[in-house]
Amino acid sequence: MSALNTEYDLVITNGICVTASDVAAWDLAIKDEKIVLQAPSGSLAQANAKRVIDAEGGYVMPGGIDCHAHLEEPAIFIKGSTGRSADSWETGTRSAVAGGNTTVVAFAPQNKSQPSLLTAVASTHALATGNCYTDYGFHLLMSDPNPEALDELKALKEDEGVSSVKIYMTYTALQLRDDQILSVLLGARQNEILTMIHAENGDVLNWLTDQLEAQGKFAPKYHSNSRPPILEAEATNRAIALSSLISNTPILLVHISDPSAASRIRAAQSAGQPVLAETCPQYLFLTRDDLDKPGFEGAKCVCSPPPRNKADQDAIWTGLENGTFTVLSSDHCPFRYDDAVAGKKSCITEEYPVGRFRYVPNGLPGIETRLPLAFSAARLALNKFVEVSSTNAAKLYGMYPKKGAMIPGVSDADLVIWYPEDALGELSVTNDMLHHDVDYTPYEGRKVRNWPRYTILRGNVVWDRDGGGIVAAKGVGRFLKRGPSTLGRIWETVREEGPLDLESL
Ligand SMILES: *[C@@H]1O[C@H](CO)[C@@H](O)[C@H](O)[C@H]1NC(C)=O
Ligand SMILES: *[C@@H]1O[C@H](CO)[C@@H](O)[C@H](O)[C@H]1NC(C)=O
Ligand SMILES: *[C@@H]1O[C@H](CO)[C@@H](O)[C@H](O)[C@H]1NC(C)=O
Repeated sequence: MSALNTEYDLVITNGICVTASDVAAWDLAIKDEKIVLQAPSGSLAQANAKRVIDAEGGYVMPGGIDCHAHLEEPAIFIKGSTGRSADSWETGTRSAVAGGNTTVVAFAPQNKSQPSLLTAVASTHALATGNCYTDYGFHLLMSDPNPEALDELKALKEDEGVSSVKIYMTYTALQLRDDQILSVLLGARQNEILTMIHAENGDVLNWLTDQLEAQGKFAPKYHSNSRPPILEAEATNRAIALSSLISNTPILLVHISDPSAASRIRAAQSAGQPVLAETCPQYLFLTRDDLDKPGFEGAKCVCSPPPRNKADQDAIWTGLENGTFTVLSSDHCPFRYDDAVAGKKSCITEEYPVGRFRYVPNGLPGIETRLPLAFSAARLALNKFVEVSSTNAAKLYGMYPKKGAMIPGVSDADLVIWYPEDALGELSVTNDMLHHDVDYTPYEGRKVRNWPRYTILRGNVVWDRDGGGIVAAKGVGRFLKRGPSTLGRIWETVREEGPLDLESL
């Protein structure tokens, strides 16, 4: 393609491109939804293009990829709670794009009373189709690994393009026994599906919850006491052990908050086990003190695992810097605060005026604030920031290099353009400026130094902060059929090892 006579759809000039490996002053040309050319800075300013965006020296990065979000899910998590996630596929992806994301992978929940996995995929498609502002995919949230469901794993991956499942070691309605976890890991291994695991010991936390309630302790802050770090470390260790028993089947420990869980993960990685891990902004920016506010206010920050303390935040940053954590996701799991039916206040009754922590819907909104907060903290090197918020997610979940990269001729033109350094001064996060369908943000008043100025999905400007905000129609986002993970050589190693050999145990 000659740079001289091609008409491009879009040219971005005068930006500093940042990928997981480079920081470089390049212009980018985009045609037919792909990046087609990287050229020296300024050289494309006069190119023949339908539109030219002058980045004015701001950073240009692959669009954020958020692979942990709960959108439009039924009240499946806590028995006896009516809490439902507040954001739909439409409002969740709208908020994501305004925060610089171009891809979201959220959950297709399997209903225990409707045990087919493929049915869960079909009902989630019905909710998402035509409604999204980002490209999107599904992880299958497995609550019932019955033999029929396990038989469907092959079709799930090969026909539906769903190459990851999520399982729980907690939440009575979702918690799997160890033998069920082994069955999922074996099925996942045979089909090259990544297993995401929520590791907290559900039996122990239920017992602690009963003990706390017996002592009359109901306020939101006791959520932390019911889920001390040892529960996370124990379950993490158990998940690692179960994966090793199934010939080192790859697992991803989601939303790690506790440094001792992180160090167990690190030890498994050092021993060569394919154990990957995720952390989230709430473990970098919130602490257990945020749950200890007057009245019911602390419920805004109730999520699981709970935010820990200041020193723990530091260890989690270290884990992001040193590669223990592969990805930084939001675990956007929003509930409205002032909503007595489906929101945080659904656990308040006359008898329990500060609610009961065991029934507070667990989760925080964060899809829009993940990148600005993490970027503004300026703790991660620029390349590392792109790696954990975009590139690694694309590799881990089978979307690379179509997503998470800027490779001419190969990568989708999914980009986030930031303001030039210091152009915004200091900005306070307020809920008013966000695009989710939630009545609060746990980061209200938090200062950030930058914000996504443009978000571009396959060459379409979807977010233009100064030029109208959300400027594309819903439905611009497309479903992504995903392949196996290409991070490291995790599946190659499994193929070399062959099927599970029980005689080797
Ligand atoms: C799940 O099952 C419950 C109970 O049978 C039903 O009310 C609900 O609509 C089902 N949800 C989905 C998504 O199929
Ligand atoms: C890397 O980070 C993890 C998690 O915080 C920590 O356990 C480990 O000691 C760190 N390793 C090095 C070499 O710094
Ligand atoms: C992407 O999503 C996360 C969380 O879902 C959000 O906090 C972040 O700001 C968004 N932007 C980017 C560029 O990742």
